[in-house]
Amino acid sequence: MAFKQDLAERLEKHGQGHLLRSWDDLDDAGREALAAEVASIDFDHLSRLVAELVKGEGARAEVDTDRVRPIDVVRMPQTDAERADRRRATEAGEEALAAGEVGVVVVAGGSGTRLGFPGPKGTFPIGPVSSASLFQIHAEKVVALGRRYGKQPPLYVMTSHENHDATVRFFEEHDRFGLDHVRFFVQGRMPAVDLATGAVLLAGPGQVAMSPDGHGGTLAALAAPGGEGCKPSCLDEMGDRGVRTLFYFQVDNPMVEIADPTFIGLHRRADAEMSLKVIEKLAPDEKVGVVVDVDGRPQIIEYSDLPRPLAEARNEEGQLAYWAGSIAIHVLERSFVQRLVGVHRLPFHRAVKKVPYLGEAGELVRPAEPNAVKFEQFIFDALPEARGYVVVETDRAVEFEPLKNAVGPDSPATVHQRMSDLFGSWLEQAGAVVPRRPDGTVPFAVEISPLFALDAHELKGKVEPGTTIERPIYLR
Ligand code: UD1
Repeated sequence: MAFKQDLAERLEKHGQGHLLRSWDDLDDAGREALAAEVASIDFDHLSRLVAELVKGEGARAEVDTDRVRPIDVVRMPQTDAERADRRRATEAGEEALAAGEVGVVVVAGGSGTRLGFPGPKGTFPIGPVSSASLFQIHAEKVVALGRRYGKQPPLYVMTSHENHDATVRFFEEHDRFGLDHVRFFVQGRMPAVDLATGAVLLAGPGQVAMSPDGHGGTLAALAAPGGEGCKPSCLDEMGDRGVRTLFYFQVDNPMVEIADPTFIGLHRRADAEMSLKVIEKLAPDEKVGVVVDVDGRPQIIEYSDLPRPLAEARNEEGQLAYWAGSIAIHVLERSFVQRLVGVHRLPFHRAVKKVPYLGEAGELVRPAEPNAVKFEQFIFDALPEARGYVVVETDRAVEFEPLKNAVGPDSPATVHQRMSDLFGSWLEQAGAVVPRRPDGTVPFAVEISPLFALDAHELKGKVEPGTTIERPIYLR
């Protein structure tokens, strides 16, 4: 009883006493689980977030447009001198890979609600011919990198509480796709609160509605001890393995050039702590974060926060002034992550979502409209803390077609087409003949396993010049 009273006092202080509503109906295990959940929540911090992001002024992120300028970008090379310079950067990156100094981090903790797929997003069958999963495609790239450079980069997969077991099982069922070293680490969680009142929602009797803390949670999760505290943290393990530089990307983009040596080389040459890849944004409304300069520091403004005048601003040539769209591909120094963790807490953003909750009468309510605020950190908020950075332009046709939606833009259909077009162009560069529609797209599915060729250059010599591709093909 005293136990319940202590908990009640603590919760009442923060206006969250309702979390104990079902206490008397719970068995001992249920009570213990609820007490542990409550103990894991920093209610002082939560109250500040509610005041600021649910009830307060900060609910809408304000951007002071006067302080924002376009950012300097290393653009795609146009001249021979620029191409030669890029080649030198590539060599520096290749040396880092051959020395085993690069680790790969993929964030796969999101719930993929927009895609409407029940399993972890990484298990989605996306190969246009093979139906290989996103995870398989990423893993095969890592294996291929190991073959090319003699050292396979270790792969770190961030999961959430909801999808961790299913993710690990999927890799086990596929013999870890031939990876030498893959480690799964779980991101943190935050309670979801009622949009109108800021009250923490219950997901069931004695069960707090918790959700992943955003991909900004990667930093703390990398630093947390693993396997119930007995394994070293991922960061420490990376240190033991000699990994200095982390290549970070999102699970939803099968086109990502994992551990791209040119990008790593440009980053290292600039003594940067965090770098990012961008593409030229095509329209003011495109849903990508924009990299800008704020008071001389780099920063990403998320698409939902980008003020209209900035989104629409054009330079003298008529192009978007703020065109540098982030494709969520970053390189971070391990030492930078280590320096940030513990001393710098990334800010939280609010995400208004539909969250099922336990109503007053104990019934589960499935809201038709968004009813809740989730709190998320974004990894790119670490950028202004970096002592050096480079922003590197890449070609969207080569490196960006994320899987976000079930239909329409960024859906399986657009991803299949983009992959077929890219692999079609690799085949053409190798001397094959590939039919094209009038708009330049390839009229059927074409796929090349990373284990067959990691890039166009590697494909040359593996295909007979003059071969005509007439039907769907999967090279592996
Ligand atoms: C994201 C970026 C956007 C970028 C775009 C490129 C954010 C806030 N925005 O938009 O700037 O231009 O991708 O595709 O990131 N994830 C986790 N744990 C979480 C939340 C997300 O691991 O708690 C992972 C997801 O699995 C996914 C990725 O992060 O792979 C992106 O999350 P999502 O919410 O889909 O971001 P977008 O709105 O697509």
